[in-house]
Amino acid sequence: MEAQRSNPALHRVPRYICQRRWWLIPLLLWIGGSALYFLGHMHDMRQQLTAVGIEGARNMFRMVVLTRDWNSSHGGVYVPVTPQIQPNPYLDHPHRDVTTTDGVAMTMINPAYMTRLIGEMAAADDSTVFRLTSLKPIRPANQADPWESRQLERFEQGVSESWSVENSEGGSRQLRYMAPLVVKESCLACHAVQGYRVGDIRGGISVTQDYTPIDSAISRHRGDLLLSTLATCLLISLLGWTLLEQLRRRWIELAGKIDEVESTHRQLLQSEKLAAIGQLAAGVAHEINNPVGFVNSNLGTLGKYGQQMTDLLDKCRRGEAGEADFAAFDYDYLRGDLPALLQESRDGLERVRRIVADLKDFARIDQSDAEDFDLDQGLESTLNVVWNELKYKATVTREFGKPPPVRCIGAQINQVALNLLVNAGQAIVEHGTITVRSGFNDETVWFEVIDSGCGMSADVLPHIFEPFYTTRPAGKGTGLGLALAYDIVRKHGGRIEVDSELGRGSRFRVTLPRTERA
Ligand SMILES: Nc1ncnc2c1ncn2[C@@H]1O[C@H](COP(=O)(O)OP(=O)(O)O)[C@@H](O)[C@H]1O
Ligand SMILES: [Mg+2]
Repeated sequence: MEAQRSNPALHRVPRYICQRRWWLIPLLLWIGGSALYFLGHMHDMRQQLTAVGIEGARNMFRMVVLTRDWNSSHGGVYVPVTPQIQPNPYLDHPHRDVTTTDGVAMTMINPAYMTRLIGEMAAADDSTVFRLTSLKPIRPANQADPWESRQLERFEQGVSESWSVENSEGGSRQLRYMAPLVVKESCLACHAVQGYRVGDIRGGISVTQDYTPIDSAISRHRGDLLLSTLATCLLISLLGWTLLEQLRRRWIELAGKIDEVESTHRQLLQSEKLAAIGQLAAGVAHEINNPVGFVNSNLGTLGKYGQQMTDLLDKCRRGEAGEADFAAFDYDYLRGDLPALLQESRDGLERVRRIVADLKDFARIDQSDAEDFDLDQGLESTLNVVWNELKYKATVTREFGKPPPVRCIGAQINQVALNLLVNAGQAIVEHGTITVRSGFNDETVWFEVIDSGCGMSADVLPHIFEPFYTTRPAGKGTGLGLALAYDIVRKHGGRIEVDSELGRGSRFRVTLPRTERA
C-alpha cells in the first residue's frame, strides 16, 4: 500500500486492477463454478448409472410378465413333482395333480407359482432378485413389505412404475424397482373368484438389485473427477492470477508513461506561452517605443522653446526687447506649435498608458481563477496587444455581439484569441481583412476570427490541432498555438470549429458553455 501511495500514476489505474483483493471475487466465482460443475457432474453420473440399473430391472419385469402371460395363455403348465417342486397348496384347481400314462406324478404350475420358482432360482445365483407381491395375497408369504405396500398404493392412484434406492436390513444399498401387474382376460380363469376385473391392479412385481457396484463406480469416478477438477481449477486460477499480475504491471507502467507525457505536454504548452509572450513583448516594446520616442523629441523641442521664451521675457523685463527679437525666433509659429506639441505628447502618453492597461487586462495578472468574463472586452484588449502584429497587414473589423459574462479563466481565453489572431495575421501575405465577431445563444457564447489569408488545404486541416504540427519554416512556428488553444477550450467544456478554403481564408470559431462545467 505504501508503494501504491508513493506512485502518483496509480490514480489512473482502476481500483479493481490496482488492488489485488478485488481479484478474489473472480477467483471465488471461478472456484464456486468449478465446485458446482463437480457436484453437477457427479449428480448426472449417479442419475445415468441409476437409469441404466432401472432399465435392467424394467427389462426383468417385462421378461417375467411375458413368461406369466405365456403360462396363463396355456391355463398353467405341468411339471414333474420333485423334492424341490411340490404341488402348490394355494392353487385351487380340479386337475392340479395328474399322473402320466407311464406313472410320473405331474403338478400344475400356475403363473404365480412359476414366478416364485424362477425368483428363487434368480436369488440363488444372482444379485438381482424379484418377487410377486400383493396387498391381498393368496399366499401369505407374498404379503408386500412396507416399501412395496407404499408403491402398490401409488399404483392404485395411477402411477405406472416406481423406483428408489433403499437401505436393506443388512445395511447394504439396494436399487428397488416395482411395476404393477394388471389383470388380463387370461387371469380371470383363476382370479375372477377374488372379484377382479380386467384392468384391475392385482399386485406387482418388485425387482431388487444390489446398488453397491453403482456406488463403487461412482466413488471411483468421484476420486478421478475431484483430482482433475482441482488440478484444472488450480491451473486456471494460477494462470488467471499471473495474467492479472501482468495486466496490473503493464497498466501501472502505462499510467506512469501517460503521466510523463502529460507533464511534458504541460511543459511544452508553457514554452509556447513563453514564446508567444516573447513575441508579444517585442511588439509591445515597439508600440511603446514609438510614442515614447516622439514625446521625448517633443520634450526636447519644448525645452528649446522654453529657453527662447525665457530669454525673450528677460529682454522684455530689461526693456530691451523689440519686434526684431520676436521675429528672430519665429514667435508666431511657436505660439501655434506649443499647444500642438503638448497635445501630441499627451496623446503619446495616453497611448502608452492604454497599452499598459491592455497588457494588464490581457494577462489578467490579478485573476487566475474562473471569473465572470466579458468576452468582448477580452477580445478588445487582445486585439490591442496584438495590434503591432496586425496593423500593417490587415484591416480589422469588430462585430461584437455583446455576449453576457461567461464563467471562465479570462487570461486563458485571451490566450486562445491571441493565438488565433496571430495565426490570422500570419496567414495574410500582402494585405487582407480580419474580422473578429462574437455572439451568444441560450447555452453558449462564441467568438470567431475570420481572415482573408492563405487558407488551408485538405491535407493540412486534419492536423492543425496536433502539437508540433506547423507548416511554417523551421524556427518560425512551434506548432503549439492551436494545440494550446484546443486544450484550453476543451478544459472549459467548449469546442473549436474551423472552416477553411485554400487561397480564400479561414474562419475559427470558439464556443464556450455559458454554465461552467462542474
Ligand atoms: N488562420 C490560418 N490560416 C491558414 N493556416 C492556418 C491558420 N491557423 C493555423 N494554420 C495552420 O495551422 C498550423 C498550426 O498552427 P499553430 O498550432 O498555431 O502553430 P504555428 O503557428 O506555430 O505553426 C500552422 O502552421 C498553419 O499551417
Ligand atoms: Mg500559431
